Amino acid sequence: MLDDAAWADAHPDIQRAFEAIARLSQGDAANVFKATRRSDGKVGALKFLTSGAFAHAASRTRLARQVDTLRAVAARSRVPVRLIDAVVGGPAPYLFFEHLEGSTVDVTVASSPRRVAEVGLAVADALTALHEAGHVFRAVEPAHVMITDGGVRLVGFGNASSEDARVTGRGIRVGSIAYAPREQLRGDRPAPSWDVYGLGALLTAMCVADEPWRGKHLADVLTAPASARPFPDEASRRIPIGLRELLAAATSGDPTARPALPSFVAGLEGWARTI
Ligand SMILES: Nc1ncnc2c1ncn2[C@@H]1O[C@H](COP(=O)(O)OP(=O)(O)OP(=O)(O)O)[C@@H](O)[C@H]1O
Ligand SMILES: [Mg+2]
Repeated sequence: MLDDAAWADAHPDIQRAFEAIARLSQGDAANVFKATRRSDGKVGALKFLTSGAFAHAASRTRLARQVDTLRAVAARSRVPVRLIDAVVGGPAPYLFFEHLEGSTVDVTVASSPRRVAEVGLAVADALTALHEAGHVFRAVEPAHVMITDGGVRLVGFGNASSEDARVTGRGIRVGSIAYAPREQLRGDRPAPSWDVYGLGALLTAMCVADEPWRGKHLADVLTAPASARPFPDEASRRIPIGLRELLAAATSGDPTARPALPSFVAGLEGWARTI
């Protein structure tokens, strides 16, 4: 048995049904393990709530909501991770996904224009599917984009919400907040423009090999004027010329100044044809 405190924290029913192979991630609310399903030997990525998070009805609802979101987009895009099986009620809820062989996007090194285009177009495809189904992803960030031999794939659907949901209090824990627009951090009503911002910030980070709001505290970000930019002006020199204007518009502090996702995609496609 894998000697891991997070696995030891799994409900006994989960431990009976799965054999853990390796820990993929340990979060505040959920753990993800590469695991074998004992009934048929199927290997996948198993996500379950920490015992602390399980105690909160909101965490259990969030886990269950991911299933609806993933089902809503599965037929529309090949980019979202596939769900193999899910148990959302009872004492031992879990999600069992296909295991993606690869790594998450690394923004500590500059990505090639080709890689930026590949990630941008794939993530945009998944976001388009989500938006068409009435959801906002709310968590475009490096840890949610996996580069595999079979292409770019999106994970982290626990943050997605329907457009009519309002986020308050605990709900504001949205993964890496550096990639979230300020109106999201303030708890506004979710809008597709949040995902345009997130994708713009992700692609900028990949080009310039830096994180948004480097060295800033959340309070600085929240109180900064709408004109404040997530990356220093000189960083834009590291963005391919044909992409600068598009990424600057996408990461505007004013949501109405951002392109809608379809025009962002058209701009990205236009640039991708030139590289
Ligand atoms: N299907 C998968 N195959 C391989 N690795 C995965 C898979 N799903 C998730 N991971 C790894 O686990 C990490 C965390 O996944 P995920 O973001 O889904 O969980 P979380 O952060 O706990 O929940 P959420 O973001 O939905 O609130 C990812 O960054 C990735 O490294
Ligand atoms: Mg996550």
